[in-house]
Amino acid sequence: MDKIRIRGGRPLHGSIPISGAKNAALPLMAASLLSDETLTLSNLPQLADIQTMSRLLAQHGVDLHLNGADPASATGGRVLELNASGIDNTTAPYDLVRKMRASVLVLGPLVARHGKAAVSLPGGCAIGTRPVDLHIDGLKALGAEIDLREGYIHASAPNGLTGAHVVFPKVSVGATENMLMAASLAKGETVLLNAAREPEVEDLAACLVAMGAKIEGIGTDRVTIQGVDALHGARHQVVADRIETGTYAMAAAATGGEVELVGGRLDLIEAVGTGLQAAGVELSHTETGFKVSRANGPLTGVDVMTEPFPGFPTDLQAQTMALMTTAEGASMITETIFENRFMHVPELARMGANITVHGASALVRGVPRLTGAPVMATDLRASVSLVIAGLVAEGETVLNRVYHLDRGYERLEQKLAGCGADIERVADDA
Ligand code: EPZ
Repeated sequence: MDKIRIRGGRPLHGSIPISGAKNAALPLMAASLLSDETLTLSNLPQLADIQTMSRLLAQHGVDLHLNGADPASATGGRVLELNASGIDNTTAPYDLVRKMRASVLVLGPLVARHGKAAVSLPGGCAIGTRPVDLHIDGLKALGAEIDLREGYIHASAPNGLTGAHVVFPKVSVGATENMLMAASLAKGETVLLNAAREPEVEDLAACLVAMGAKIEGIGTDRVTIQGVDALHGARHQVVADRIETGTYAMAAAATGGEVELVGGRLDLIEAVGTGLQAAGVELSHTETGFKVSRANGPLTGVDVMTEPFPGFPTDLQAQTMALMTTAEGASMITETIFENRFMHVPELARMGANITVHGASALVRGVPRLTGAPVMATDLRASVSLVIAGLVAEGETVLNRVYHLDRGYERLEQKLAGCGADIERVADDA
């Protein structure tokens, strides 16, 4: 298994192209199941999770054609054509679902268009229990019959789904996405209340509209969908990855460098931008994205609490903590979305960080420096927080379990090395 070796202490200088968003691309790919015409997605990132979703869709009978780089894309994103006219299997098996929880996004489209689906229950996860009850309750409200047995969600709606009012008791990105897709083909009107407003949800809704869906209130917490009989093919460009953007912004700030994030959109991470500026980081728009710099002056500790969009994203919590480890003063970081998302804390502590966890909050007292160490993490964002810490630390950091990074960061070492980082991927026995 590969590792990543970093020799820290070099400020990042240069530019980094921002890829299409993993968390937008995955539901967009699932949306192809809603039509028998071709959905063409551009600006698709090259990631392990995209491959897993491709495998899942292929075993349902979707015909996928990957067309290499998009000539119109400044960031090298690829173009994928998906055609679901030949679906011959409505089961999403455990082997794929356990690898990637986002597999549950096929549930809504399959039951809406094919009247049935069996999707493995995802099971446990490194960052929290992550149940799927909101997906199930939402589909039940649209008239699907759901039976949980032998580790699978068996959903059926032989006469189709029917629109309904669905009030989510808790904001859920995935459940909102599943319901948007299912309701697009339901009979009559569906109203989703307390819907997730994340840019990735908005991107999915925009694609569904391009496919002929009738959706109002996109980007708000009240979304109304008028079901249609069929959706048609469309072309859609995947939105820029705001989490990748925020991650590299933190890396630039942590190392005291200056980096332009090409294709990065500050408007998608306003809460993060505000936090970075309060910490002493300069942000400025450029023609093709924005620039992050902390060429002068120290970082100051700031408090952060994760919330659903437009609040501070949980997917940038670990990276923010890495940034705060060497800030002046203290920083209180509170995680409200997932109950077990501090797995990076003991690893950061092994690099010299001073962090105390009290329930859902972590108190980070800034230290003058971190020191390199062998580290590993149990999820994607925790792993990349250790990369940021490694870029700042004195000496060598070796990050194990690199496959987590490969799920969500395209060409991470190349992008950072292009800005002067001393970072390389090494085979396990090297
Ligand atoms: C999406 O996961 C993202 N994944 C996650 O990114 C992200 O952390 C999360 O949204 C929150 O922003 C994708 O988009 C593929 P949720 P999702 O449903 O949809 C609880 C990453 O690192 N909940 O919004 O699974 C749940 O346990 C990943 O890229 C229920 O209780 O998240 C959590 O506490 C990690 N019942 C909260 O809601 C449900 O049925 C929010 O989860 C569903 C969720």
